[in-house]
Amino acid sequence: MEITNVMEYEKIAKEKLPKMVYDYYASGAEDQWTLQENRNAFSRILFRPRILIDVSKIDVSTTVLGFNISMPIMVAPTAMQKMAHPDGELATARATSAAGTIMTLSSWATSSVEEVASTGPGIRFFQLYVYKDRNVVRQLVKRAEEAGFKAIALTVDTPRLGRRESDIKNRFALPRGLTLKNFEGLDLGKIDKTDDSGLASYVAGQVDQSLSWKDIKWLQSITSLPILVKGVITAEDARIAVEYGAAGIIVSNHGARQLDYVPATIMALEEVVKAVEGRLPVFLDGGVRRGTDVFKALALGASGVFVGRPSLFSLAANGEAGVRKMLQMLRDEFELTMALSGCRSLREISRNHIKTDWDFPHYLPAKL
Ligand code: FNR
Repeated sequence: MEITNVMEYEKIAKEKLPKMVYDYYASGAEDQWTLQENRNAFSRILFRPRILIDVSKIDVSTTVLGFNISMPIMVAPTAMQKMAHPDGELATARATSAAGTIMTLSSWATSSVEEVASTGPGIRFFQLYVYKDRNVVRQLVKRAEEAGFKAIALTVDTPRLGRRESDIKNRFALPRGLTLKNFEGLDLGKIDKTDDSGLASYVAGQVDQSLSWKDIKWLQSITSLPILVKGVITAEDARIAVEYGAAGIIVSNHGARQLDYVPATIMALEEVVKAVEGRLPVFLDGGVRRGTDVFKALALGASGVFVGRPSLFSLAANGEAGVRKMLQMLRDEFELTMALSGCRSLREISRNHIKTDWDFPHYLPAKL
């Protein structure tokens, strides 16, 4: 069957992947309310398209942290991609470079920073989990720098792992033959079977729960790379991130895998954008599956979006070609949305091009 949208990859991935792997990729935390809400909230934002504007030429390119990219759609860090496909992160890196956009490599990748760099040129960010052993972090950041990564996305929403019940039931562990490649030499590369989610146990053992704002300063002292703070969903934290010299903010609820019953990221975006007052770029991830979603995020003030599960599911379905097609479909849909809304460049996308249920509470069904 021909694939005509990004969501169709999930069904194929579900058929292809072992249950433990599919569940790990697909799950959210606890009741998975936020997981659904990340998608549902987009459907409560409607367009106010402008007509009779010459849209014969549309430019979807943009700049992120000074890097020119082909479109405001980037790849979020997702762990352990070799469970999806033998080429794992290497395929994602190639596909993302071919699409002219940015890939973020997870700390918990099953390919190392050096292996990903060796796939060829491309603008790549490195997602960082801060371990209790700061020497581990120091070494890893240095290796990412040396491998040509251009920014650190510091994940700040994971002092402990959210409760993902299917991972507990499945006794999630890394399949034989795979390791967290970046940590292999440090003897921290395995995720063993435990009486719980193996990943939850791993996090409890290794990740530094005491991480706090002052560690942003510490991180700045060990690297000159710009630091994006990933996982901000309130105005208060956005202001602190500005004070601490973050290079950008990623409004993220970790794909609804951490604290359940936080709002959809698209609902939290505007308060963060307002709080930073243009001092930093604000990005969004969570539930982006359509070009219309990308447009809505930009209309609410995001400088770009990241996609997580779509890259995993397209990778599982068809390797590098799957990820390429996923990115191409999102790009095409986004460009079409711009044309049909009367926008020729990202600069022309404005708050006036959408209306939300909080602008017009009577406009959409009351109980949401
Ligand atoms: C993630 N995410 C994530 N985030 C991070 O900072 N480091 C990581 O290693 C991972 N790993 C990871 C694995 C899987 C299977 C998923 C689904 C997510 C979160 C990710 O970066 C991003 O925030 C969400 O995936 C965005 O939501 P969508 O696009 O998946 O809805």
